[in-house]
Amino acid sequence: MGEIGLVDSDGAKLDAALTRIARDVDAVFDAMLPIPDDTRAPLVEAMRYAAMNGGKRVRPLLLVTTAEMLGVGRDPALRAACAVESIHVYSLIHDDLPCMDDDDLRRGKPTTHRRFNEATAVLAGDSLHALAFEILTAGETTSDPFTQAELVRCLATASGMSGMAGGQMMDMVAESSSYDLREITRLQQLKTGALLAASVEMGAILARVPPEGRTSLRAYARDIGLAFQIADDLLDATGDEVAAGKALRKDDEQGKQTFVTLMGVEGARNQAEALINQAVGHLAPFGQDAAVLRALARYIVERDR
Ligand code: IPE
Ligand code: IPE
Ligand code: MG
Ligand code: MG
Ligand code: MG
Repeated sequence: MGEIGLVDSDGAKLDAALTRIARDVDAVFDAMLPIPDDTRAPLVEAMRYAAMNGGKRVRPLLLVTTAEMLGVGRDPALRAACAVESIHVYSLIHDDLPCMDDDDLRRGKPTTHRRFNEATAVLAGDSLHALAFEILTAGETTSDPFTQAELVRCLATASGMSGMAGGQMMDMVAESSSYDLREITRLQQLKTGALLAASVEMGAILARVPPEGRTSLRAYARDIGLAFQIADDLLDATGDEVAAGKALRKDDEQGKQTFVTLMGVEGARNQAEALINQAVGHLAPFGQDAAVLRALARYIVERDR
C-alpha cells in the first residue's frame, strides 16, 4: 500500500464508522429532544422526525473522525457533530419547502412539511438552527469559552450569507440566470462545501489546533466539499430514486445550474474524481491515522444515496 493508497480494510473501517455514527447521532438527538407536555409537542415531534432515523451522517462522521484523530474524546466531538447535523437538517427541511425545491420525499420518508405542515416545518427548521448554537455553548461540549466562541463563529459563518444560506440564494437565482464555471464552483462551495468544511474545521478547533496548523485539513475539506455536491448533482442526473430516498431528475426540470449542466455527466464525474484524489493527497501528513477520512473521501463520490 502506498502512503496515500486505500486498502480494503479502510473500507471496512468506514462501514463500521458510518454504522456507529448513525446510532450515536440518533441517541444524542433522542436525549436532547424530549417531547414537551404542552402545545409545542408537534414542533419537537417534527424536529425529531427530521433529525432522527435517516441520513448518511457524513458531516458528523467528518467532525468526530477529525477530532478523534487529533486526540479529542468521542463525547464532546459527538455533541459538536450534532450541532453541525442540526444545521444540516434545518437546511434540508427548508430546502424541501414549496417555496424552494418543493419536494415530497427526503431520506425515504415524506418531507417534514408533508408529514406535518408548512408552518411546523419552518419552525422545526428555525429551532434546529438555534439548537446547534445551544449545543456548542454548553459546558458538556467544551468548558473553554474561547473554544466555544470559535466553534460558534465557524458554524455561524458556514451557515449564513457567507455559507449555506448564501449558496442557497445563488441556487435559487440560478433558475433564472446563467452561471459560468467559476460562479457554479462558488455556488457549490457555499451551498454544500461550507458546512462540510466546517465539520472538519470544528474537529480541529475542539482539538485546539491553531489556524496555522489546519492548512492540510482545510485543503482536504475544501476538495471533498466540492466533490460532494458534484456527486449529488450526478445522483440527480443518473441515480436511483429508491436508493437515494429523494426525488431525482429535478435539477434539469427546475432549471438548476450544476457541474453536470455545464460539463456533462462524464466531465462532472472526472472533476469529482480529480478532487477526491487531490483531497486524499492532502492527508499524507497524517499517514495511517487518516484511514477513515481517506475512505470517506472515496465514499463521497461513489455513494448511491
Ligand atoms: C443532501 O445532503 C443535500 C446536499 C447538501 C447535497 P446529504 O447527501 O448529506 O443528505 P443526508 O444527510 O445524507 O440525507
Ligand atoms: C441542497 O441542495 C443543499 C442544502 C440543503 C443546503 P439540493 O437541493 O441539491 O439537495 P437535495 O438534492 O434536495 O438533497
Ligand atoms: Mg436545493
Ligand atoms: Mg433540494
Ligand atoms: Mg440535489
